[in-house]
Parts: sequence; C-alpha cells; structure tokens
Amino acid sequence: MSAAAIRHYLQFSDLRADEYAYLFERAALIKRKFKAYEKHRTLHDRTLAMIFEKASTRTRVSFEAGMYQLGGSVVHLTSQGSQLGRSEPIEDTARVISRMTDIIMIRTFEQRRLERFAEYSRVPVINGLTNEYHPCQILTDIFTFIEHRGDIRGRIVAWIGDGNNMANTWAQAAMLLGFTLRVCTPHGYELDRELAAIGRVGSGSGQWEMFDDPMKACAGADLVTTDVWTSMGYEAEKQAREQAFANWCVDARMMAVAKPDALFMHCLPAHRGEEVAAEVIDGPQSVVWDEAENRMHAQKALLEYLLLGRIA
Ligand code: CP
Ligand code: NVA
Repeated sequence: MSAAAIRHYLQFSDLRADEYAYLFERAALIKRKFKAYEKHRTLHDRTLAMIFEKASTRTRVSFEAGMYQLGGSVVHLTSQGSQLGRSEPIEDTARVISRMTDIIMIRTFEQRRLERFAEYSRVPVINGLTNEYHPCQILTDIFTFIEHRGDIRGRIVAWIGDGNNMANTWAQAAMLLGFTLRVCTPHGYELDRELAAIGRVGSGSGQWEMFDDPMKACAGADLVTTDVWTSMGYEAEKQAREQAFANWCVDARMMAVAKPDALFMHCLPAHRGEEVAAEVIDGPQSVVWDEAENRMHAQKALLEYLLLGRIA
C-alpha cells in the first residue's frame, strides 16, 4: 500500500459522516451473514497486529475473532511481553511491525504515542483506546443505537460521568453525525473542549451541552450512557473520584425521566453500584450485551474499509 493511500483511524473525526453511513450498513450486512453462518472472507491472508499497553477483554476478543472470521490472522503483543517494555522506541516498533503485517490496532496511554506510531507505520493504524479517545467503541455504540431505534440524527444522548476518552469521542460523534450530546460531569472532571474538538469537527448540526445535574441531563433523553469513574491509567485518583462521583450513579430515577423508550449503554467493564445501578444495567432498557457483541461486527466493517475501501 502506498503511503498516500493509508487511512488511519486514530479518532472519531478521522472519518466523514458518509463513511460512517457506509460502515453502519456494512456492519449490519456482516452481522447478518455471521448470524446465518455465511462465510465472509474479504481479508483472506491479511494479518492484523494488536498491541495492548493496557488490559482488555472486549477489544482483544472482538478484533481477534473478527479478523479470523474475515479470513485473516492475528498477532497479539503486549508492552510487557515485547521490546516496548524494554524501551524500544515506539517509532522503531512501528517501522518493524508495519513491514510484516497489513493493519495494526493499538491500545495505549497518550494519544500522542499512538500518533507517533501511526507517523512511522506503513499500514493503517486503529485506535483501540487511548487516554483521550475510544473511537471503535462509539462507532459500535451508534451502530447499536441505529439497530434498536433507527437514525441517531436529531436524538439526545445523555453522558453521565467522567469527561474521559468515551465522552470526548461521543462529543466528536455528535458534531459529525448531527445529534445532541448532553455531558453531565462532576466539577473538576469536565470534558476537555480541545480534545473533544468542539467547533472543529463536523457538519455543524450536532450540539454539545453541559449539565451539572444528572436528572436534568437525562430528562427526555433517547439514550443514557456512562462509564467507569476511574479509567485505566488513573488508578491513583480512585479514592478522590469515588467521592466526586457519588451522585453520578445511573439509576432507575434517571432512566424514569428519560424518554419511555430510552436505551441504556455502557462500554463495559461495569461496576454495579458505582456508575450504574444493577437494576439499570440488568434491566429492560439496557443494550450492553448487544453493544459488546457489536464491537466485532462494526470493527470487521472498519478493518475491511481501511484495507479495501468501499465494497459494492
Ligand atoms: N469496552 C472495551 O473496550 O472493553 P475492553 O476494555 O474489555 O476491551
Ligand atoms: N474509560 C475506560 C474505558 C474502558 C473500556 C478506560 O479508559 O479505562
């Protein structure tokens, strides 16, 4: 692949709205074929390298199973088990791995580290989560919303929790795909406007609103969503965060003021009794297991798109 043709997926704003429309349709087709046990081997003989510098269950399994289903193969590395853990520069690692594989997924800490890797890679690089963004998850969450409720344009999504990687990515998606994101965080944990690229991304029809009362943020929402209080890499702040987020548990009262058919989503892993009450995550409005499964279908569409482009 020539350098000019490489498309990376480092943040949600790396793809356009029309490309997302294609991916959502393609993911639906790929999922239907998977459910019907029909083969879909568009990436025969291609290799995905996955590098994990943080723990994972869903990202690992969804990319690995998905790549095999597409007819390809997978190489799995961790920082501890590779020379990255012994200070080999990320640029050298990128040069080497991208000479041997066709596409690379990385889960790491700073977004800048991922960007440095991508700058030196000969093949497409996918963000499997950084401190700043989690685009594969939001790609999947919107696919899951569409499956259950149709178009997300014009809808209201309430984010109740930390102004973290998930919140930044939801904000980019709102701007790009034309829905409203209500962000409700405790004081001191607000979303970073620069990271969320507010005002820089998208069609202009989406909006972002800030709330300090979770009940108000949930009122009339089509989707209520949250995430852990302490993301990976922030463990030293756990105690302070438990205090700050004490009133940010998505519970039945919050779901009751949302639209009657509102969905609940959580990227998982979840902590019942902290960011979400068991009655909500295990209740009838929760689609968290579809969300988890859909990581695989949405990412298969993404892998295919980055390597092959649109398939008629
Ligand atoms: N949601 C998500 O990315 O899960 P993992 O951390 O298990 O990969
Ligand atoms: N915000 C969480 C998401 C985990 C999938 C984290 O970064 O740990």
